[in-house]
Amino acid sequence: MSGDLHSGDGDDRTSVAHAGPEHADAPEFAREMWKTRLGFVLAAVGSAVGLGNMWRFSYLTAENGGAAFVMLYVLMTAVVGIPVMLAEFTLGRGTRRSSIGALRKAGGRRWAPLGYVFVTAGILILSFYSVIAGWVTRYALAGIFTGFPADTGAYFDQISSGTPAMGFHLFFMAVTIAIVMGGVEKGIERASFIMMPALFLIIAGLAVWAATLAGSGEGYSFYLAPSFDELTNPRTLAAATSQAFFSLSLGMGAMLTFSSYLSRQESLPREAGLISFSDFGVAFVSGLVVFPVIFALGLQGAVGESTVGALFISLPGAFNAMGAIGRLVGILFFVALFIGAVTSAISLLEVVVSALIDEWRIPRKTAAVGAGAFIATLGLWPAADINALGALDAVTNYIFLPVGGLALAIFVGWLYKNSLDEVSRGVGEGFRPWLKGWLWLLRIVVPVLLVAVLFSGMGATRDALSTLFGG
Ligand code: TRP
Repeated sequence: MSGDLHSGDGDDRTSVAHAGPEHADAPEFAREMWKTRLGFVLAAVGSAVGLGNMWRFSYLTAENGGAAFVMLYVLMTAVVGIPVMLAEFTLGRGTRRSSIGALRKAGGRRWAPLGYVFVTAGILILSFYSVIAGWVTRYALAGIFTGFPADTGAYFDQISSGTPAMGFHLFFMAVTIAIVMGGVEKGIERASFIMMPALFLIIAGLAVWAATLAGSGEGYSFYLAPSFDELTNPRTLAAATSQAFFSLSLGMGAMLTFSSYLSRQESLPREAGLISFSDFGVAFVSGLVVFPVIFALGLQGAVGESTVGALFISLPGAFNAMGAIGRLVGILFFVALFIGAVTSAISLLEVVVSALIDEWRIPRKTAAVGAGAFIATLGLWPAADINALGALDAVTNYIFLPVGGLALAIFVGWLYKNSLDEVSRGVGEGFRPWLKGWLWLLRIVVPVLLVAVLFSGMGATRDALSTLFGG
């Protein structure tokens, strides 16, 4: 496989020359690449799989009609998620630049600001994502060393902000920085190769165990019985769209950046399909863990609570109540969450680091430490104040990501001349006509649905901001 990669280089260089006359004077510097195709896929799945799959998916499903929501979510993954992922791939691999450079190279000076929006989103998201990942780390260690506490509510209050939260946030950032410093192949690819299969195994194992619980049947029927009434509610559509979008890490250049290290021989639609399917698989199987556990302990009410806090209160409480086996299961669950969080965090930091390397030729190690330290410092704010965390979460999810995705869909759908050519590379003849359909999804359907997400998120964003600023 790695041998094949290098034969792709020759054709890379010629098309780079086509696409970017403004860079013709700058000699092409050696850019890192994935060693294997599977490495790229696992890293992209690593970015996608995170708290979104293992918790957000479950509570949205619980709130929005069970299996009916799951079907709508699958549809939105196909109609919005895969098309936007392909748009990011097209730009990243087409220009061989990370976000800022990619948009400048493909769209000229006027589009470069969108790249800065992506990098800003990456900085803001990682600053609070790392705080949540710090809680996850704390729970995993608590499970290992002392067992889960009986009063998880009081425990969570204690550790979720202030000095303890800052400490674990800084530790998590240090892990993330260390991996990104290692580079695309020796850092990100290698870490994903080890961690992602471990995550798949843990989640699958837990789902098998959950089937043995008394009461699991009720959990399954709640999860898998569709209530179609919910589908007529427009809020459900917006929720399914935003979940598909969030879960696939779209709208801020993470997939764009990862694809900029990919060989031109690979078929982008095939990779997008594989990544989306794996991401859905982890979410679906996580539901097969969460629902039986919740129902076995009679905690039905808890799964519909949309706060991140519920993940850190109800589930660990259940693990505590289940004795020794609960402790083991809980440790595995939080270790899987930790893996999900690390592999997502490295993609967030890579968006920033890759831009520093491409735009200012800053050496990778310096860029990773510098950007990482900056984000770690910024993250002390959400670590100290949980309302700041809520506000950062709302602003990035409901504004930055949908706006970024919307602008990207319009750019790649309507303006970028190279999109059909780039997306057709390595794609079989029979499949090519379908790619025209992709372009029309990007042009019309994706923008309409993302505008719906923007509108439906406005209330939540306003609430989060007024809580923060004491309105
Ligand atoms: N997809 C991640 C999850 O499911 C969260 C996420 C959203 C993300 N946008 C991102 C991760 C961008 C990395 C980069 O938890």
